[in-house]
Amino acid sequence: MQYEVVLPAAGSGKRMGAGQNKLFLQLNNKPILIHTLEVFESDDACTGIWLAVKPEERAYIQALLERYRITKVKGLPNGGKERQHSVHSCIKAMQQVEIVLVHDAARPFITKPIIARLVEVAQEKGAVIAGVKAKDTMKKVRDGIIMETVDRESLWMIQTPQAFRFDLLRHAEDVAEKQGFLGTDEAMLVERLGHQVHIVESTYENVKMTTAEDLIFGEAILKQRNN
Ligand code: CTP
Ligand code: MG
Repeated sequence: MQYEVVLPAAGSGKRMGAGQNKLFLQLNNKPILIHTLEVFESDDACTGIWLAVKPEERAYIQALLERYRITKVKGLPNGGKERQHSVHSCIKAMQQVEIVLVHDAARPFITKPIIARLVEVAQEKGAVIAGVKAKDTMKKVRDGIIMETVDRESLWMIQTPQAFRFDLLRHAEDVAEKQGFLGTDEAMLVERLGHQVHIVESTYENVKMTTAEDLIFGEAILKQRNN
């Protein structure tokens, strides 16, 4: 089953504190952005990549695509103020496809078996996201005081990719835009329309490069994979 992927890449990486878009930082001598792109470039089921970028970074990113021979990018629309705006900008630029994935450009360790499973479930159910079970005991805290211990069995930590029938995601994003609703992931936009969103169990390796220590973890994952 074929799909196209939207990769929001127009953030500024404030929490990484590198003074530049964190996607340009290198892991094993290759930019994070390229690690992520190579997963989709080498997946035969992926027929197109859409990258949301900052206008002032477009030329640099296009040069990286050439240098690393990334050929599947169909468009690099302007990103927006929030991640949701960046994703929407890609969705609006896309032609109709059956299945679309949205994946953080900052998650370079996603694997093809998980992608394939998400695409399969999206085709069948319409909406599905990747996640892992919470590892730690979770408590609700207010003003420094424990309010309750939340049942961990029902808690998942949500990642990307999030996969959808294209029509469903486009509709959910159009509605959110009209209503001025801002969500933290694509699933929220679909959930609020009353549509069920399914979950596929992913791996703890699929971390988002967010703060400096994530880079150490990232280097370790690459080292282990190369052995
Ligand atoms: N992103 C985007 N447009 C935005 C904000 C984020 O395309 N306006 C992208 C980022 O480039 C990243 C992904 O969304 O690939 C996940 O966002 P996050 O990890 O929060 O990255 P940043 O926003 O860059 O980092 P920070 O929040 O620390 O500034
Ligand atoms: Mg951010």
